[in-house]
Amino acid sequence: MSETRDTLTITDNRTGRTYELPVEDGSIRAMDLRQIKVADDDFGLLTYDPGFKNTASCRSSICFIDGDVGILRYRGYPIEQLAESSSFLEVAYLIIHGELPTPEQHEQWVYEITHHTFIHENIKQFMDGFHHDAHPMGMLVSTVGALSTFYPEAKGTGAETRHMQIVRLIAKFPTLAAFAYRHSIGMRYAYPDNDLSFAGNFLNMMWKTTELKYEPDPVLERAMDVLLILHADHEQNCSTTTMRVIGSSDADPYSASAGACAALYGRKHGGANEAVLNMLQDIGSVDKVAEAVAAAKAGEYRLMGFGHRVYKNYDPRAKIVRELAHEVFDITGKNPLIDIAVELERIALEDEYFVSRKLYPNVDFYSGIIYQAMGFPVSMFPVLFAMGRIPGWLAHWQEHVLDEEQAISRPRQLYTGADERDYVPLSLR
Ligand code: SDX
Repeated sequence: MSETRDTLTITDNRTGRTYELPVEDGSIRAMDLRQIKVADDDFGLLTYDPGFKNTASCRSSICFIDGDVGILRYRGYPIEQLAESSSFLEVAYLIIHGELPTPEQHEQWVYEITHHTFIHENIKQFMDGFHHDAHPMGMLVSTVGALSTFYPEAKGTGAETRHMQIVRLIAKFPTLAAFAYRHSIGMRYAYPDNDLSFAGNFLNMMWKTTELKYEPDPVLERAMDVLLILHADHEQNCSTTTMRVIGSSDADPYSASAGACAALYGRKHGGANEAVLNMLQDIGSVDKVAEAVAAAKAGEYRLMGFGHRVYKNYDPRAKIVRELAHEVFDITGKNPLIDIAVELERIALEDEYFVSRKLYPNVDFYSGIIYQAMGFPVSMFPVLFAMGRIPGWLAHWQEHVLDEEQAISRPRQLYTGADERDYVPLSLR
């Protein structure tokens, strides 16, 4: 019985040559394929992988997903336990540092973030420059990038410099988010209140009006914190990959975060929660759901909030959000769209089209219904997603810049353009 070898034997039928490639962690190194050539001067074999559907771009110890079973863990801790027992700032610490904080570390972390929530007054001029109906996500992308001009030291390396930018970005995202909202409704900015929790302070900056001191509803404050936990990381999703790619060129974390925000903005990614609400509102009533499902099956449009590149089972976050909705509705009153969403889920999960394609509700399917019930306008939904995801982006950025195996991200291509040809002057065309 030959011993099993962790290798792949490839025979190139074009040349008859055989190659033995090492298999490590269930993968082969793409660069090992370059030795497979037809002629000595050819480039060697490439992999072609649109959308990177089967490409591992890095080694990472931050987030584990088993999409077939529907498992999500941050640094080994199941999302269900973190959502039940942790807080967003504690989860942010865990994701970035790799371990749950000690009481002293937790106190120091919360103190640092609480005392970095203010933004430079000049940032308000950026906000004021936007049109009254500017989309808050566009405002966030721009102002996060602008932060890089206030902290030139962020281009530096070293643990202390990285730590300071990480603290600033986590602390200032809610302020930028709330200021973008207040600009869009023509209200003056409500400044951070350091007596409040991270989530409570965000609600304060969003909703404070004439009261001397805003007091967040504890149920809504906890719901906000849990929603941020659920969005905190998700391995190599589109926006996190963008964060890593920008970070790979040694750009500062503010510029990288602006790029990640831009990637998240798309309706296939973080913009989906906004698209779900618009879809549910378009469907309008439970008795119209079957018609909507038929249209989706006919390819007329996609059921937003359904399907996932990795989850081929129920997104564990969606289950938690659906349960959280009822706690929020006890305070806010029921959002009638939940009935349409539940009926849509029921029909889709019984329908061959969705079952065969393993299309289940994802985190975006129910989150928007809660956000709307809490009073957030639909346009703020991707901003809320970004607020939750910033610790994940920063953890992956830091892991990438510290990974000695990494290099600047620069993929190859399969060229399909014209062969060499001579320039033709305008007069002769
Ligand atoms: C997030 O990557 C992450 O981790 C993302 C995220 C995170 O936390 O960062 O989890 C957050 O972005 C969740 C996903 C939010 N997006 C949406 O809800 C938008 C709707 N969903 C899709 O557009 C789609 O499902 C994707 C983009 C999420 C995944 O697309 P894939 O993996 O590239 O799959 P695909 O587009 O190749 O579709 C496979 C098949 C196709 O049918 P066929 O061509 O085989 O006939 O499934 C169909 C698609 O047409 N399909 C859908 C569908 N999603 C896929 N059909 C109807 N409705 C849908 N929602």
